Amino acid sequence: MLRGSELRKSGAIGWLTSRRTGCQRRSRERRRCQGDSLVKIFITGGAGFIGSNFIRHVLSLGDSYAVVNFDKLTYAGNLANLQSVAGDPRYQFVKGDICDPDAVTQAMRGCDVVVHFAAESHVDRSIYEPAPVIQTNITGTFILLQVARTLSVQRFLHVSTDEVYGDLSPGVSADENFALQPSSPYSASKAGADLLVRSFVRTYRFPALITRSSNNYGPYQFPEKFLPLMITNAFGNKPLPVYGDGRQQRDWLYVEDNCRGILAVLERGRDGETYNIGGNEVLENLEVISRLLKLMGKPESLITSVADRPGHDRRYALDCTKIEKELHWRPHIQLDSGLEQTVNWYREHADWVEAVRRGEYRTYYAKYYEHRNSALEAVMSAEGTSLTSGAAGEERGSRKDRTN
Ligand code: NAD
Ligand code: TYD
Repeated sequence: MLRGSELRKSGAIGWLTSRRTGCQRRSRERRRCQGDSLVKIFITGGAGFIGSNFIRHVLSLGDSYAVVNFDKLTYAGNLANLQSVAGDPRYQFVKGDICDPDAVTQAMRGCDVVVHFAAESHVDRSIYEPAPVIQTNITGTFILLQVARTLSVQRFLHVSTDEVYGDLSPGVSADENFALQPSSPYSASKAGADLLVRSFVRTYRFPALITRSSNNYGPYQFPEKFLPLMITNAFGNKPLPVYGDGRQQRDWLYVEDNCRGILAVLERGRDGETYNIGGNEVLENLEVISRLLKLMGKPESLITSVADRPGHDRRYALDCTKIEKELHWRPHIQLDSGLEQTVNWYREHADWVEAVRRGEYRTYYAKYYEHRNSALEAVMSAEGTSLTSGAAGEERGSRKDRTN
C-alpha cells in the first residue's frame, strides 16, 4: 500500500516534497513529513455533483488519499451520490455549514489540504434568491480561508468557474488573466470568492490555488442544470424548455476530466496560480439538444422555447493553454461519447432520478417552468425579495415551504 510518506518521497506530490524545508521549521508539518499517514483532503460540498465525482475519483486511485467530506446537505447535497464509498475506511462524512467557523475548525483539524467545492451553484436560483448564494459563496469561502490559515493547511484549492469572465464576444476565449466581468449573482459571488483567495495569497502568502472550469456534465448532476434536465424530461417525453433563442454557447466538460484536472492542480500546480479547465467543446444549446435527442431516439418536437433567463450570458469559452503546457492535462472524453455515457447513466439510475425529483425539485420546477412567466415577472419586480440570507442553506427538501 502506498502510504502518504512514500507518496511524498516519490515526489508524486511536488508541493509536499518542495515544502520539506518548511516542514523542518514547523513541528506540525514535521510530524506529517515523517509520519506514515495518507494525505488527508478536507473536501467541502462533497455530496454534490462534482464533489462526489471527485471523492470517488481520488479514492479509486489507490491508497494515497483519505477524505473528510464536509457538507451541509442543502437541496443539492445527496449522500446517495457516495453510497459506493460510504463504507471505505479512508472516507469520513461530517455534516456542517462552511459559514460556521467552529464546525469548520473542528472538522478541518488534522487535514493536510483543502479542496473547496461547496457553493450555491445554480445561476437561475441565484437570480430568484441571491442572499443564500452570497452568504455561502463569499462568506463561506472567507471562513474556510481563515480557518485553513489558522490550522496551517498546506494547500487550499478553490474550485471556481469560467462564468467569472462573463459574456464573451464571438471568437474570444478567456485565459486566466482575462478581466472578471460576472453577470449573475452566482458568477459575481464566485468572482468575489476568487478575489478573496487572491488577497490571501498576496497578503498572507497563503498557499492557495484556483481552478476555473467550464460547464460540467456527467453522472450524479442535479436535474436543475441544463443537461440532466433535458435528459430526464426527454425520458418522460416532456417538453425541453430552451431559454430564449437557444443560441447561447457553453463549453462542455465531462466531470471526470474536471476531477483529473483539479487533482493535477492540487498535486502539481504552482502556489497562488489560477488554472482554467475547459472541454474544448463550445456549442450552442440547441446543437447540444439536437445531438441528445438523436442519441435518445426522441423527436425534435419536444424542444419548446420559454422566456429567457434575465441577464443570460450568450457565450463562454476558455483558453486552457496554461494547464495543458504546465501540467500536461487535456480533456479525454469528447462530447458525443460523454453524452452517451451520461444518458446511459441516467437510464440505469432511474431510482436516483425519481428520488431527487420527488423532493424540493418538484416545487422548484412547477414554479419556474410550469408558471415561468409569472414567476419571472415577480422576480423582476422584486416582489417577495428576501433581504437577508436567513434562508441560506436549508436542508434538502425544506425550500419547499418557501417556494409555495
Ligand atoms: P452542487 O450544487 O451539485 O453541489 C454543491 C454542494 O455544496 C452540495 O452538496 C451542497 O449541499 C453543498 N453546500 C452548499 N452550501 C453549503 C454550505 N454552506 N456548507 C457546506 N456545504 C454546502 O454543485 P456542483 O455542480 O458540484 O459544483 C461544485 C463547485 O464547482 C461549485 O463551487 C461550483 O461553483 C463549481 N463549478 C461548477 C460547474 C458545473 O458545471 N456544475 C462548473 C464550474 C464550476
Ligand atoms: P446551466 O446548466 O444552468 O449552466 P450555466 O451556469 O452555464 O448557465 O445552463 C446552461 C445553458 O442552458 C445556459 O445557456 C442556460 C440554458 N438552459 C436552458 O436553455 N434551459 C434550461 O432549462 C436550463 C436549466 C438552462
